[in-house]
Amino acid sequence: MFRNSLLSSLVIACALTGSAVAIAQDAAAPAAAAPVNADGKPYKVVDGFKVDDYTMTGFRTWRQAACDRCHGANQEGMVGPSLVESLKVLSKDEFITTLTNGRPEKGMPQWKENPTVMNNINQLYAYLKGRSDGAITKSKVVPLSAE
Ligand code: HEC
Repeated sequence: MFRNSLLSSLVIACALTGSAVAIAQDAAAPAAAAPVNADGKPYKVVDGFKVDDYTMTGFRTWRQAACDRCHGANQEGMVGPSLVESLKVLSKDEFITTLTNGRPEKGMPQWKENPTVMNNINQLYAYLKGRSDGAITKSKVVPLSAE
């Protein structure tokens, strides 16, 4: 218990600073990562497209894994469904399970062998959740810290 709560505070603390350590800690305890912001949202966004480092990592992961090949550059769906719609109903646990194991028979690849995706799955969720909530209004985001 103690170890778990220590880990999650580390994750939160690191997530706020956006350091590389956050990614390493996250990999060790993906389920322990809680929403990082006071408003309970896992992302922070200003003007619809300037995001915190955590969410920015999610966007970069989306790009690197090329999820857009199937889900569209704006997450609105192509071969795969619209993730803007999906994340309104899919829980975070379901999201993680779907990515980890995929749904190979239905054309969704599994990502468990892909460290880029698995180490940043919470950040990826944060970015996509922001898109689904309508809070991130542009699919292409920029770092808030660049201001
Ligand atoms: C080769 C095409 C392809 C790629 C690449 C792909 N997906 Fe999918 N994805 C699909 C298909 C097809 C489905 C629908 C499966 C089904 O019918 O249940 C799906 C389903 C999903 C779902 C569940 C949606 C729901 O409503 O249940 C999520 C979440 C998802 N994908 C996220 C991602 C993410 C994030 C990435 C990148 C890491 C990604 N996908 C990459 C094809 C793809």
